[in-house]
Parts: sequence; structure tokens; C-alpha cells
Amino acid sequence: MSIRNRKAEHIKICVEERTAPGYCYWDDVRFFHNALPEIDAGDIDTSCILFGKKLEFPLIVTAITGGFEGAVKINSNIAEACSELGIGMGVGSERAGVSGVCPESYSVIKDFDIPLVIGNIGAPQLIDQKNEKASGAGTVRKAMDLIDADVMAVHLNYLQEVVQPEGDTRAKGCRDAIRSLAREFPIIVKETGAGISRETAERLKGIGILGIDIAGMGGTSFSAVELHRAMAAGDGIRTQMGETFLDWGIPSPVSLAECRSCGLPLIASGGILDGIHVAASIALGASCAGVANAVLREACESADAVINKLTVIREELKAAMLLTGSPDLKSLSGSRHVILGESRKWLESI
Ligand SMILES: Cc1cc2nc3c(=O)[nH]c(=O)nc-3n(C[C@H](O)[C@H](O)[C@H](O)COP(=O)(O)O)c2cc1C
Repeated sequence: MSIRNRKAEHIKICVEERTAPGYCYWDDVRFFHNALPEIDAGDIDTSCILFGKKLEFPLIVTAITGGFEGAVKINSNIAEACSELGIGMGVGSERAGVSGVCPESYSVIKDFDIPLVIGNIGAPQLIDQKNEKASGAGTVRKAMDLIDADVMAVHLNYLQEVVQPEGDTRAKGCRDAIRSLAREFPIIVKETGAGISRETAERLKGIGILGIDIAGMGGTSFSAVELHRAMAAGDGIRTQMGETFLDWGIPSPVSLAECRSCGLPLIASGGILDGIHVAASIALGASCAGVANAVLREACESADAVINKLTVIREELKAAMLLTGSPDLKSLSGSRHVILGESRKWLESI
């Protein structure tokens, strides 16, 4: 199967099928209502600085796609919305683009003035197959140039690779590869829906990366995505594996709590659906939140649809800030909240 077809299938499956485990871990975070906020909604400042760039509110549309013809419109719609609203954007894995497959589906975002542009490459692709020696500087340079990236995300997606028939399960040498890249490029490390543990964050800290996108469990599950592909291909073994691993991973709020002590800026993603979830992620220590699936249907439709969806999230965040008496994100990060439900059970068992 070509990369082109696989990328198109991922979009189709994520739009048409249920690809999340079903439990919303971000709903476990509940704020104490402030009945006497003593601030005016008009004075609330939602802006933040991330990796030296100013975002109008703490949100990034994280890596989704690129590498097939249909991705030109999707990325262009997301780019227009992020530029209009002053927030960050990541593109999907640029493996295809740097090898000449539909590069315009990535470079299209250069037509827009986006405050923070994040490139994307998979960790397995950084490892030289024969001698497991760190490699990939040339690929990363090309990937950054393709979209004028400010920062490059190296994604860790071993859950997907292990359930995907054509998966690349080489993992040895990854950390060294990331370390050597981080000497030359502004690198962040990103999961893709299974979360980052405290131990992993500790192992990443100190190798020169700028931050971590925790992308925890509770939103898009690549095990679910690959299960649908395997089912369509009549691959019984991979279908079963996709089902078994559907809710594998660390719930996003738990992953965030785990990583907080590493001291790096954290992007909280994985199951973020609304502005209260964004507020919850800030309260739990994130510098910024990230969404993928929450805007995917809209991104397939039009830039206006993405703008509308993201505007709702921004207004919900502002409302949550008013109702917690938080004039800015620093104040929101100190607002009183509780963690209930499954997330609490996880945190209590650590
Ligand atoms: C269709 C689709 C394709 C994705 N492709 C990539 C990718 O190429 N690289 C990457 O780092 N993450 C990729 N992701 C993962 C997202 O960036 C994000 O980490 C994950 O979907 C969890 O966020 P969500 O629950 O808001 O969807 C993709 C997500 C979706 C929905």
C-alpha cells in the first residue's frame, strides 16, 4: 500500500468511524465555580508564548495530514483558520513530502501567516536501519524547509506501528537519534495518542529538546484506526490486535500530571474536544493544548468551518476563565479543581 493511499484511508476512517475509546478523561477535571469573579470578560487575556511565539489562545491544531492530493485542501483550511485566529499548527508526517510525494499538500500552508508552524517526522524514520546509527539531519532540514517550520516534532507512534501491517517497529537508537537532531534543530517530541510517562519524560529531558506533546489516550486511537484498515483488508490477526489495544495508553490528564515534573513546556493533546478541556489542561500544568480529531470534519469541509469550531473553543475557554476568576493563563493554572472518575483512579494507584 502506498503512503498516499494510507494517508487518505486514515482521514476517511477518522471522519467516518469511531476511533476513540469512548471515555472522556478530560471531563474528569472539574473546576470550582467562582460566583464572584471580579473581572470583566473583556479584560481576559488568553494569550501565551510558546517556543518564543505568541499565540492568541493556548491551542495548536496538531499533526493530522499531508502526502496525498486531498490533503492540500485540508491543510490549507487548517492553515487559514490558524492564521486568522493566531494559533499554532502542525502538519502530518512529512515522510511523504520530503520524498517527493505531493509536497504541495504541506507547502500550501506557507501561503498563510501562522504564528507557530510545527513540522513532523516519525522517530522510526530517523534510525539508520543497518547499523542503528542516528541519522536524519538531511530529512529534518528538508522537512523544515518544506513548510518554513519554527519547530520540528519527532513523533513516537509505536502503538500504531505495532498494530499496522506495514508498521516500522524499529525503536532501538531513537533517543540518540533525537539527541543528535536536537543539537542542530529546534526539536519537540510528540506522542500520537498513547501518552508519555514520567520515566519517558525524564529520559527525554536533558537531551536538548524544547518541549513535549504528551498526546495521551482518550481521543484518537491509532489502534482503532488500524483496526478499521485491517478489517477492510480482511486481516483477522491485525483486526484482533487493533481491538485488544484500542484503549492502550496513559489517559491524557494522567500523562500530563506525570510529565509536569520534567520542567519542559508541555502541549496537552489527546481527546481535547472543547474549551473547558483546554482550561483543564492549563490547570494541570500544560503550556498549551492541542486538537486533531475535534477539527477534522471541519477541515475536510472549509476554512470557515474550522474557524467556527476553533472560535467556539476559544469562547468556551474564555467563559471558563471568567467562571474561575482567572484574568490570564497564569491565574487559570492556579485555579482550584478536582480530578474525579477514572483519571482519579489512575492517579491514586500510581
Ligand atoms: C487523521 C489523523 C492523522 C494523524 N497523523 C499524524 C501524523 O502524521 N503525525 C503525528 O505526529 N500525529 C498524527 N496524528 C495524531 C494527532 O496529532 C494527535 O496526537 C492525536 O490524534 C490525538 O489528538 P486527538 O485526540 O485530538 O485526535 C494524526 C491524527 C489524526 C486524527
